[in-house]
Formats: sequence, structure tokens, C-alpha cells
Amino acid sequence: MNALQGKKILLGVCGGIAAYKAADLCRMLVKEGARVQVIMTRAGREFITPLTLSTLSGNPVLTDTFDSAGRNPLIHIEAAEGADLLLIAPATANIIGKLAAGIADDLLTTTALAVTCPSLLAPAMNANMYAKEVVQDNLALLKKRGWGIIEPEEGVLACGARGKGRLAPLTAIMAEVRRALSPQDFAGRTVLVTAGGTREPLDPVRCLTNRSSGKMGYALARAAWERGARVILVTTATEVEPPWGIDLRRVETAAEMAREVLGLFPQVDVVIKAAAVADFRPSRPAAEKIKKGDQEVLTVTLEPTVDILAELGRRKEKQILVGFAAETGRALEQGAQKMKAKKADLMVVNDVTREGAGFGSDTNQVTLLYPDGRRDELPLLPKPEVAHRILDAVKTLPAFAESTGL
Ligand code: CTP
Repeated sequence: MNALQGKKILLGVCGGIAAYKAADLCRMLVKEGARVQVIMTRAGREFITPLTLSTLSGNPVLTDTFDSAGRNPLIHIEAAEGADLLLIAPATANIIGKLAAGIADDLLTTTALAVTCPSLLAPAMNANMYAKEVVQDNLALLKKRGWGIIEPEEGVLACGARGKGRLAPLTAIMAEVRRALSPQDFAGRTVLVTAGGTREPLDPVRCLTNRSSGKMGYALARAAWERGARVILVTTATEVEPPWGIDLRRVETAAEMAREVLGLFPQVDVVIKAAAVADFRPSRPAAEKIKKGDQEVLTVTLEPTVDILAELGRRKEKQILVGFAAETGRALEQGAQKMKAKKADLMVVNDVTREGAGFGSDTNQVTLLYPDGRRDELPLLPKPEVAHRILDAVKTLPAFAESTGL
């Protein structure tokens, strides 16, 4: 699923130093398949030229309420027509004030009144300006009226001061855009995803782990959030960029993951166990670094860890459990056995020896197994697409309709 494909996005660019970032944002929107129509305010054009944004969007930039010959007084209506999303980034204190007051004195403000699509704005300004009561009141008012506000981040501002006012990261703005344009079929649900390979200490510097990268779990967390869910991601992975909007809980060992997941279980609707959890851990991790010395072999005794999914299966009430089975042979048979033993409602099975389906890869080829024996073999797909297919399958489970927040 590509939420932006073919969508008409109106990108409003106002006069703040962050306007230069609108060029990159425009490029990212276009890259994901959106048809971008840029509208610039007069002050916006002082910071970045319309030529830059028309080149990147592939469309002439709209700037004036009336065209130069005064022939078309309906530019704002035409721009608003068929728009799927209005995104104002960066939004200045001035535009926020005007929108809150219903003032329509230029093309962007008139268009904002004319659209019927979802509207988002990403403020960027000096931290003192952002903190001013009037700006905060205006934002609260716009939020109440249905605007999505993508809050600025803390950091060093263009004026040299530190504080909250820097335009939200473009990855965050893109995530909010995808969420605004995605079907909200997981709204009201809490989805818990586990990701990555656990790390079991041998001594303070060494551990036993596996090759799981966490990419599949992160793709699932991102996809569920885009589709409206509240998402908690319990993860060991450190190499993958944390997705925007998600409640991230970092853990290392199977025991830590078990504690976190079992503690959260009563408040979630769906658990997706994409993590590769160690089945055994060193019984007695050394308190100090193990020295080679003159020993010829080193024997480490391992003891079993908690099987988190099996424990969830024992405790489950209405929750939906999705398990993973990464196998190296007789994958479907093994997956079906695990589903039964752990009382999972859906099993995602893959043979990790297949090309493009192994750990760390950006693609995956999985078969979905249902408790009634049905199976759905998916083609080799990018992991974000596999994630959406898994969520589509979760939606078809009878328990999903009842899971409107426990
Ligand atoms: N799992 C878990 N806790 C464990 C081991 C596994 O929650 N201690 C979960 C995994 O997250 C996955 C599913 O159980 O969703 C299957 O994991 P897998 O390692 O494939 O199976 P195991 O039951 O450990 O069996 P084996 O390692 O013998 O194949």
C-alpha cells in the first residue's frame, strides 16, 4: 500500500527560514507518487524561489490570488478542487493567526478556507514566538477545528537560540502525511509489536544473539500507526531508525522483553511477535570479562528463557496473537505446529534460506497460516508491503471486530 500514490497534495510554504526544507519535503512527496501543487506566500518567496519548487513538483507554483492578467479570480477554488491533503510547512505565527481568525487575504489562506480535505500544519519559528500564549491559543483552536498540528522540535534555531521551534523532522512530516492519507482501519486499537534479536550476556562485553535486524517489526509498527493504531514497539534493534509517533521501549534480553510485553498485555488488542527471541541464555553470566587464560575449550551452560508468545497464549482473553516462524526447512509444517502450541491467531512463516527472505533483508517472502488451516502464500515483497498484508490478514480475524480497545 502506498498511501500517497496519485494523491493531490497542496503544499503551502510560508516565510520562515525553514522554507528551504520545503524543497526536500516536496521532493519526498513526489517520490512517493503524490501530485504536488505548491502554494507560496509572499514572504515564503523571499526565502526560496518558486522556480525551485516548480522544478521539484513538476507544476507551476501558485503565488497570487489573481493571475497577472487578472483573468482568473478562481485560482483558490481550482487549487482546492480534488485536493486530498493540505499541508502547510513551514507554518509561521502569522499564517497560524490568520487561519485561526478565518482571515483570507492571499492565495494560501483563501485556499485553506476552500478545501474540504484533511489539513496539516507544521509550525516553525523562534522558540519565544512559539511559546507565546497567542500562538499556542491559535494552535489549540485550529486543533479543535480538525487541523493536524505537527509539533516543532527542540534544538538550535536559525537565530542561534535553543528551544522548541525547529520544523519537525521531514521523516515525521512524511509519516503524518501517510497517516492522514491512509485508511484508519486500526483506529482505536492498541497494537504491540516486538522487534529485533534478543541479546543474552555471557559476560560484561559479550553476548549471545541472532541475525534479526528488526526491520520487519519496525515496518509493522510503522504500518499499524499509519493505519490509526496506538503502537507500542518493544525492541532490541538499535540500527533501524525509530518510527515517528510510536511508543518505543528498548530492551536487551528475553527476560526484559517478557517483563515488558507481559506487563503491557492487558491493555493491548493485538500483539505481533516479530522479534527473534533467544530460547536459551547463559545460566551464569560472568561478572567480569571471561579471560582466555590457558583453557583449551570453554563450556557455557545455557538455561531456557520464557517463551513469551506461549505465555501470552495461556493468558489471552480477547487479544489477537500473531506469531512468526523463521525456519530453514519444512517451514509450513513447523509454523502450523508452533501456531497450535502457542495458541496464535495468525502465523507468519518464512524460510530464511530463500533468496530475499533472510534476516536483515529489505524484502520478505512469507506464507500466512490461519488456525482453520487456510494458508496465503505471498510473493516476494518489500517489508513495508508485507507489513500491510499482515495487518490486512489481522483485520479479517473474527476477534478483530470485537477488539475496539480493551
Ligand atoms: N518466541 C517467544 N519467546 C521465546 C521464543 C520464541 O515469544 N522465548 C516467539 C517468537 O517471537 C515468534 C514465535 O515465538 O513469534 C516463534 O519463534 P521461533 O524462534 O521460530 O520458535 P521457537 O518456539 O523458539 O522454536 P524453535 O526455536 O525450536 O524453532
